[in-house]
Amino acid sequence: MLMGDAKLKHTSGGSAAHEVHHSRIGDRIRDGETVAEFCARIESEGLPMADALDAIGLEIAAGRLDVEWATRSEELKIAVENGPDAKSLCKKSPHLWNVLAYEREWKTYPEYNDFLDKKSPVHNKKKFEWEIYESLLGGELSGLAPGSRVLDVGAGVGRAAVELAKRGAEVTLVDASPRALKAAWRHLAEADARDFDLVWADAERLDFIETDSMDAALAIEVFCYLGDPEKALREAVRCVRPGGWVAFSVEARRGAMAADPYLRPPANRLRARVNKLLIEDEIYVKYFSRRELKAMAADAGLESFRIEGCHFVADGIFNWAAGERDYARSGSRKRIHGFERFLRNSPLAQFARAWFAVGRVR
Ligand SMILES: C[S@@+](CC[C@H](N)C(=O)[O-])C[C@H]1O[C@@H](n2cnc3c(N)ncnc32)[C@H](O)[C@@H]1O
Repeated sequence: MLMGDAKLKHTSGGSAAHEVHHSRIGDRIRDGETVAEFCARIESEGLPMADALDAIGLEIAAGRLDVEWATRSEELKIAVENGPDAKSLCKKSPHLWNVLAYEREWKTYPEYNDFLDKKSPVHNKKKFEWEIYESLLGGELSGLAPGSRVLDVGAGVGRAAVELAKRGAEVTLVDASPRALKAAWRHLAEADARDFDLVWADAERLDFIETDSMDAALAIEVFCYLGDPEKALREAVRCVRPGGWVAFSVEARRGAMAADPYLRPPANRLRARVNKLLIEDEIYVKYFSRRELKAMAADAGLESFRIEGCHFVADGIFNWAAGERDYARSGSRKRIHGFERFLRNSPLAQFARAWFAVGRVR
């Protein structure tokens, strides 16, 4: 239970919509005690720890409980808390600008960040994207036996983790954002998931996870925002046993340029200069070519590696072809999936907005 050292605290909030979840075990959580302390107390009364964990999840889902994670990276803590040291730290480690910007987004646009919430304006689009990944991962997902251990690196609000948990996997979610982790806990609890761990940590430093201890790992839309994506991939591969799979997706260079004229020279240079003056903490993104990904995977020890283009519609050059309302309707969503498949197998594949990659650990 990696989140054992996370501290619990009641909030004054709470939503009537979740009243049905209200649990009597949850009432016994004491402010300031850790998850491990609460679970031990409930177990000493003869109740299973799973019930205690369930109760915490339900209290979070009801908006009655806050969680304060112990950090595994002092740098992340500074970036997330946005203290006076954050900017100088970000200048040294530019990928921390992303952590800082993402925290700011949580304050300004929580409804966009917490897109698993059905009220989010991008809920259906984000679910559509997961369906793309799900279809690309078809064989790997169907091969996961119940109880398989899956690492979700940069798990966000739990888009993949909730689906994996529904398939019976035990998921360890790692993310740089405690706000995202708390949202993920809520969504996992709402999906009745039980076996999961949530860790506030840096994707490049997973030393708290034992070598070969996972059956699979995912890092969806994460490595392109890191300082050292190669290191993060090596870390994910290290955690997975030989024969297990590692899947990830990143931004694709050519597709990004095709979709966004401001990423092409000379506009990109102008934009970089203006940004430096105005918004220091603009998202810091790395774009990849297929060749770079292949080399990165071979170097990390992956074999039977395959790369597919995706997001031609959701974020790519055909973005105008569909909107949130189209993603909401199953009939039109089916047609958009068909269009994605067509593009993936056409010469336009080179303009994929993202690359999806998966390989087996040697
Ligand atoms: C675009 S979101 C993708 C989230 C999730 N994988 C999904 O597909 O919905 C990127 C995620 O990476 C996380 N992240 C960014 N930098 C990170 C780092 N250095 N270590 C761990 N997570 C990081 C962010 O907090 C965010 O949740």
